[in-house]
Amino acid sequence: MRDAGNWFLYNCWYAAAWTSEIESDKPFARTFLEKPIVIFRTQGGDHVALDDRCCHRAAPLSMGRIEGDCLRCMYHGMKYNSEGLCVEIPGQATISANHRVHSYPLVDRGGMLWIWMGEPDKADPADIPHFEPLDDPSWCGLPSRCYLHYDANWMLIVDNLADFSHLAFVHTNTLGGSEDYATESAQHVDKLANGFEFERWHRESRQPPYLQKITPWPEDTIVDRRNFVRMYMPGIFLMDTQFGAVGWDSTEHVGELLEFRNCQYMTPETRSTTHFFWEYLRNFRMGEDDVGETLREAMFTGFFEDKVIIEAQQKILEQADDFQPRGLASDTALAHFRRMWFERIEQERETYPVAPDIIKNPVI
Ligand code: FES
Ligand SMILES: [Fe+2]
Repeated sequence: MRDAGNWFLYNCWYAAAWTSEIESDKPFARTFLEKPIVIFRTQGGDHVALDDRCCHRAAPLSMGRIEGDCLRCMYHGMKYNSEGLCVEIPGQATISANHRVHSYPLVDRGGMLWIWMGEPDKADPADIPHFEPLDDPSWCGLPSRCYLHYDANWMLIVDNLADFSHLAFVHTNTLGGSEDYATESAQHVDKLANGFEFERWHRESRQPPYLQKITPWPEDTIVDRRNFVRMYMPGIFLMDTQFGAVGWDSTEHVGELLEFRNCQYMTPETRSTTHFFWEYLRNFRMGEDDVGETLREAMFTGFFEDKVIIEAQQKILEQADDFQPRGLASDTALAHFRRMWFERIEQERETYPVAPDIIKNPVI
């Protein structure tokens, strides 16, 4: 592990919340990069992100009240508009330019709200890593979009998703199917400037347990499975999963394929906790709610298996400042991602200074 002082990249889009998490009449509190943020939906239907700290005496604005397109602090009543400017102070006629809180660019793409925590003038919505299947009706998602909270640094989750040999041991009876999965095929990793890609095949195996629960094919059908994985900074994981008859080839389509499209987004809450968002879409048995429910349960079971081992790993690492990891050949992707990450941080720090450490009790 490298000591970078501050490990956060600020000038990039982070997954902040599914729009379905935001209630229309209630501000929503969530912390990103160790900064508490309040998100609320205006009467006009826009989503707004502000510092979750009133500029008067630091009461959380997430305990406030939505009034039209504004948010009122429910301590002494200051009212803020969607740009974070105070527009009303009860009992006071003058409002100074300092009576404001920071507002953050926040954009909805396919039901995911993306937040920009860095320099606002660098925020370009065209750079949002939108995952098209999220709003493509030819893909059927789960009954609702999913979220997990991790007590672990987000990079440990990136590591996990960078090496699929763990499916054999962590997910033997859920997502993997057998311990052969680790030895079946070495994955070739394509290194990119902003992440990596790899393709991994598992040939002539039974359908994995999660698929067996919902497959339209006979349960004992032997299949070839292809996973095509992309991981982009800051923590965007996208995967195409395809099951077909033995011998099918991705360049020469053979027969029917059962397909999934999966996105997983890791956003640092703090240096030791992470927001984890995911959706799992399919191209078969569309619109069958019980199939979606079964799939969601199976995936949650699998993702909890990751969570248990990653959170345990985090605890060990917190106690082990002398730990020097010994690399394996399968670490290519995660090593590359970390190298790119720290390079990006070094570049960013040249123009955008590290956020100061949190000052405890500034008021007292
Ligand atoms: S703390 Fe918000 S108005 Fe006083
Ligand atoms: Fe996993």
